[in-house]
Amino acid sequence: MTDTLFTPIKIANMELPNRMVMAPMTRNRAPEGLATALMVEYYTQRANVGLIITEGAQISTQAVGYPATPGIYSDEQVANWRAVTDAIHAQGSFVFVQLWHCGRISHPDFHDGELPVAPSAIEPAGQAFTYEGLKDFVTPRALSVDEIPAIVEQYRHAAEQAVLAGFDGVEIHAANGYLLDQFLRDGSNHRTDNYGGSMENRTRLLLEVTTAVCQQIGAEKVGIRLSPINAFNDMADSDAQALFNHVATALAGFGLAYLHLVEVSMTGEPAADINMQDIRAHFGGCYIANGGYDKSRGDAAIAAKEAELIAYGVPLLANPDLLERFKQNAPLNVPDQATFYGGDEHGYTDYPTL
Ligand code: PHB
Repeated sequence: MTDTLFTPIKIANMELPNRMVMAPMTRNRAPEGLATALMVEYYTQRANVGLIITEGAQISTQAVGYPATPGIYSDEQVANWRAVTDAIHAQGSFVFVQLWHCGRISHPDFHDGELPVAPSAIEPAGQAFTYEGLKDFVTPRALSVDEIPAIVEQYRHAAEQAVLAGFDGVEIHAANGYLLDQFLRDGSNHRTDNYGGSMENRTRLLLEVTTAVCQQIGAEKVGIRLSPINAFNDMADSDAQALFNHVATALAGFGLAYLHLVEVSMTGEPAADINMQDIRAHFGGCYIANGGYDKSRGDAAIAAKEAELIAYGVPLLANPDLLERFKQNAPLNVPDQATFYGGDEHGYTDYPTL
């Protein structure tokens, strides 16, 4: 029989009830960096998909880049996340937390006036969302080589905290123009030390982070997200296919839970011509595809074995019962962009079910 989105699958140690994944989405409803009861409700409503990947959670104070995003480093943050993970597990779903360091996609307002950090002192085009509204990005401070071990340690510690919070694993966010992606791509990494220049050097920090996190919690609890063609956050690379094939090859030996690719560019500009299946083949393990999938494309990708899992973002944001709607071929709610970031239950937990 042909597999569909509704076919169960075993990934790492998880018996997922279906092939649908909730893609990580920043929602800016965690004041003081703490998960709230409203967040518990939001995730519980969507805990019918097999695996939830939470919104990005900063791994340290230095990692912050947006208002009201949750953290996953302090014991208080762990205690609040525990209510989320317990509620998701009670519905029979699994949950990974996304480990996030924004790097240069931040603002001094979040750092007591200090500069955000990045591989190189290159100002991204665009503006930061601060508590006082949009402000131009600033030129970040290039991390010294001596500071890198402390960044790796922040990821390791966050992974340790994530397991204490009840998460089934962590997703290392190396996509969408944040710190690890800033190191990977040569538009944002002009370093001349062991962390810049060659593809091997630009991949070094990601591999050090992956090694530390896998040693801490076990590779089967670790997934990685990359966005090979995403120009969002002013990202560019001179040879993305070669770079991400290289990254996928380097990740292949860890025994990770999955590789998760954002297959589209979020800027609306025509995306570079990159072969995602080629990157996937270099990795060789479980593949989560994300970006622009509806039911028929998702089913087709699963049936053709082009992906093990399909991650849905905005459609699941607007349809907590997306799985049931797909089963019934029912119409979908229309997402309200105005309530994506910040605010209260409106556009968050009040989307109607069938
Ligand atoms: C966003 O806030 O728009 C955002 C955050 C994290 C991402 C992508 C987009 O990875």
